[in-house]
Amino acid sequence: MADNEYVVQMKGITKVYPNGIAANQGVDFNVKRGEIHALMGENGAGKSTLMKMLFGLEQPTEGEIYVNGEKVSLTSPTVAISKEIGMVHQHFMLVPNLTVAENMVLGMEPKHKGMFMDYKKAVEITEEYAKKYNLHVDPNAKVRDIPVGMKQKVEILKALVRGAKILILDEPTAVLTTQETEELFKELVHLKEQGYTMIFISHKLHEIKQITDRLTIMRSGKSMGVYQTADISKEEISRLMVGRDVILTVEKDQAQPTDVVLRVRDLEYTNEWNKKMLNKLSFDVRKGEILGIAGVEGNGQRELVDMLFNLNIPDSGSATVNGHSVIGQPQRKIRDLGVSLIPEDRMTFGMAGTATIEENLMSDRCADKNTIMAPCLT
Ligand SMILES: Nc1ncnc2c1ncn2[C@@H]1O[C@H](COP(=O)(O)OP(=O)(O)OP(=O)(O)O)[C@@H](O)[C@H]1O
Ligand SMILES: [Mg+2]
Repeated sequence: MADNEYVVQMKGITKVYPNGIAANQGVDFNVKRGEIHALMGENGAGKSTLMKMLFGLEQPTEGEIYVNGEKVSLTSPTVAISKEIGMVHQHFMLVPNLTVAENMVLGMEPKHKGMFMDYKKAVEITEEYAKKYNLHVDPNAKVRDIPVGMKQKVEILKALVRGAKILILDEPTAVLTTQETEELFKELVHLKEQGYTMIFISHKLHEIKQITDRLTIMRSGKSMGVYQTADISKEEISRLMVGRDVILTVEKDQAQPTDVVLRVRDLEYTNEWNKKMLNKLSFDVRKGEILGIAGVEGNGQRELVDMLFNLNIPDSGSATVNGHSVIGQPQRKIRDLGVSLIPEDRMTFGMAGTATIEENLMSDRCADKNTIMAPCLT
């Protein structure tokens, strides 16, 4: 029998994926009842893998998991939910064409005369939970029309309505504005006061400092230890995450930009749900400078990149590289202009996972004037 101070105990967890990657190696991870516990680590450190095992989405290769002192075999999310575990994924799992209330009760719909969904009851449930947990949502709005911050509240409420007492939040602030983050933190503290336990994944050191009680740091699939948040400095956290000292400020010379190379003028794009994603966007990028584009996810950044690399076509406006338009041009031509794209989702769009590194490296070099695949066939 495990110690009851802990709601979650993961002992000696190893996870080797079918492709041979050991994403977790002998990880111990313990969460105390009623705490907000941060799980930190660089990209690829193994945080999501560990949490997927706790939510029944992946199975450990080795190791044991205890929930509320009981040894469990979390073979699916349904089993995890029955053990009072809920997960809010970074990329929301809501159905855009359904209303908030319909999403709330998905898979557990209240029935009218035993057959049809009782929509009125679904709205009542949504309102009751929204009030109880101080998470305000609009039950009748279609999910596709609500802001990101509200979508996240719906995800949290969905977990709560299914009986979650332990909430896993995978990078919940990545999609939020500063104001929305502050609001989320108030809500999480409110949940903590009501006895809920939360596991909070984030890279943002100031957020971890602000909201969490303890933290576990992962590096290359291993745990680097567990700390009281108040007792460890941001510098020390970074050092443990990365494995060397990290300089939190960058020293660099003043840029000396010259001619304009990329010119974007009045780009406009309205998406399939009639939402204006680009609204007369104009800017220049000069040779020798780095242009930062700030904003939380979902505010047109992805659409802008799509237009510049002809993954989509704007409704109007222009984009030129050294005077040559890139709108609607073949990717080969855009590459020949000296542009390359490292996409935000590398795993899906940046590489072919089943191909070799060699094949990946030459995959954009296969075009030839005579036969398209000629260089690849030699
Ligand atoms: N389904 C999978 N099959 C094979 N390898 C995987 C799979 N999922 C993750 N990996 C690999 O396992 C390692 C850990 O990945 P994981 O997603 O757990 O990291 P993470 O800490 O959550 O990173 P991030 O901060 O980028 O979300 C990485 O090397 C990743 O490429
Ligand atoms: Mg992850």
